[in-house]
Amino acid sequence: LSHSLRLRPLSALAQGDRRTKPNIDWDSLGFGLKDVAGSMYTATWTEEKGWDAGSLQPYGPIPMMPSAQVLNYGQAIFEGMKAQYTVDGRIVIFRPDKNAERFAAGAQRLSMPVVPEAQFVNAVKSVVASNADWVPPQGKGSMYLRPVLMGSGPILGLGPAPSYTFLIYAAAVGSYFKGGQLTPIDLIVEEHFHRAAPGGMGGTKAAGNYSPVLVTQLNAKKNGYSDVVYLDAKSDTYLEEVSSCNIFIVKGKTIKTPPLQGTILPGVTRRSIIELARLRGYTVEEVPVPVTEAMEADEVFTTGTAVVVSSVGSLTYQGNKKQYTQNGQPGNVSLEMYTALTDIQTGKAADPADWVVKV
Ligand code: COI
Repeated sequence: LSHSLRLRPLSALAQGDRRTKPNIDWDSLGFGLKDVAGSMYTATWTEEKGWDAGSLQPYGPIPMMPSAQVLNYGQAIFEGMKAQYTVDGRIVIFRPDKNAERFAAGAQRLSMPVVPEAQFVNAVKSVVASNADWVPPQGKGSMYLRPVLMGSGPILGLGPAPSYTFLIYAAAVGSYFKGGQLTPIDLIVEEHFHRAAPGGMGGTKAAGNYSPVLVTQLNAKKNGYSDVVYLDAKSDTYLEEVSSCNIFIVKGKTIKTPPLQGTILPGVTRRSIIELARLRGYTVEEVPVPVTEAMEADEVFTTGTAVVVSSVGSLTYQGNKKQYTQNGQPGNVSLEMYTALTDIQTGKAADPADWVVKV
């Protein structure tokens, strides 16, 4: 048995796992499904039995009725996680307890059954272990993991689904924004639409938060921007987040990022960068950040599991463009924070708080 096959849980082998090793061009990974991993995990919740143990099976369609709650009323949340090789050859995931915690909070916000932390983390580990051939060699990228929880059971009147599916699929990925991980991105401040409002579900990783942004995002892309930055719905004054990531501004040794007040996503990378920046001697403030202050900042960067840390090259607001970076080079603090985080994730630096978990 090859090393990766030995890692595969018995349930995968029992399913008759006859896959051959994937043929992946590790040097041209993008952020997509081209190299989707061979197996996925699914578990089912019913009122009578609660969560079943779940199992691994080949990646493929999942049966659902047209009346599935999620297809009609959108009862769904998701997570983003990554598995990668460390420099000493371990496959690791990053702070899975934090994703489990956010997944549980999201389930409660959308009236869905909570997936217990142990089941969540074990399921993630089993998907990684059974798809080890899809984890890129060190330095080439990562295997992105997508846990989803949804009301898959049928219902007609508005109410919670009678049954639920928790699944995890995975794919080998490279950098999220095209141009490569360290190429600065150009952002534009959205002046018509808002992403979330106080009392809404902006702080939940609900599937429904990620489709209303498409109209603005596609429009921004048409005009040459990578993505948009949203302002707060109440006063149109303060930064909220980008469609796919959190945002930080830098002035001297002070770093600011919008506070978690229910309208922005409590990012695991956001939280890690705040902690790492403080350790490195920066003053980090979670305070409302006026867009006008961002336009005066030395640097701006975004954080997220998919984007990691991305330096913002320019920000455009009301027709004015502020350029932060020169010659396609990332900002110094953005690069410093990117390096600090990824050095821990890849085992190049000490991991004092046990953020990295071996699979
Ligand atoms: C992630 O960063 O993992 C996310 O889930 C964001 C998504 C829009 C790609």
